[in-house]
Amino acid sequence: MDRQFQGINKTNYFAAFSVQQSCHLNPWSESVFVDSLTKPYFAFQLVIDNQTVGYYVGLNVAGEATLMDLGVSQELRGKGFGQQLLDHFIQQCVQLNCEEIWLEVRESNRTAVALYSKNKFEFVEVRKDYYPTKTGRENGLIMKARLLEGYTTRPI
Ligand SMILES: CC(C)(COP(=O)(O)OP(=O)(O)OC[C@H]1O[C@@H](n2cnc3c(N)ncnc32)[C@H](O)[C@@H]1OP(=O)(O)O)[C@@H](O)C(=O)NCCC(=O)NCCS
Repeated sequence: MDRQFQGINKTNYFAAFSVQQSCHLNPWSESVFVDSLTKPYFAFQLVIDNQTVGYYVGLNVAGEATLMDLGVSQELRGKGFGQQLLDHFIQQCVQLNCEEIWLEVRESNRTAVALYSKNKFEFVEVRKDYYPTKTGRENGLIMKARLLEGYTTRPI
């Protein structure tokens, strides 16, 4: 099996963009996705045997990182790829000397909340009715991990 983390740029973004479209109720437009590929953003895709299985987009501003998005192709979930992408993201944040990582997630997204909690992200606050749903609105959960307090990254 050939496994690579590739930086996403304006010439190779389309497979990751396609995965993003299938991951969310309100995915980003193509122009927003492309705008999130250059500094202060950074984005990587996990490519297994020439297939993009998932991606993430991060933001780094003054030592504070934000996980803007993370997604794995629907038919390939539950196989550890989301964890591998999160590990890679955290290692990038360590290399960028970030002290904290922030993210926001839908309250109903039990899978993502479980993934982040397992990786030492802690709940900070609720953003009430932040996200649209098919039937109304739902809360966003803001979560944070501190990297300077003995955060150990796993080998990727
Ligand atoms: C969230 C997401 C990236 C996880 O990717 P994945 O490849 O399925 O996750 P993994 O197989 O690496 O699992 C890692 C952890 O996630 C959690 N998890 C995965 N599938 C789960 C499920 N069905 N139910 C509950 N928790 C689950 C578990 O904590 C799991 O660790 P464990 O296997 O030790 O229990 C994926 O579900 C996804 O792309 N969802 C749609 C996009 C999205 O919601 N992104 C998050 C935006 S904030």
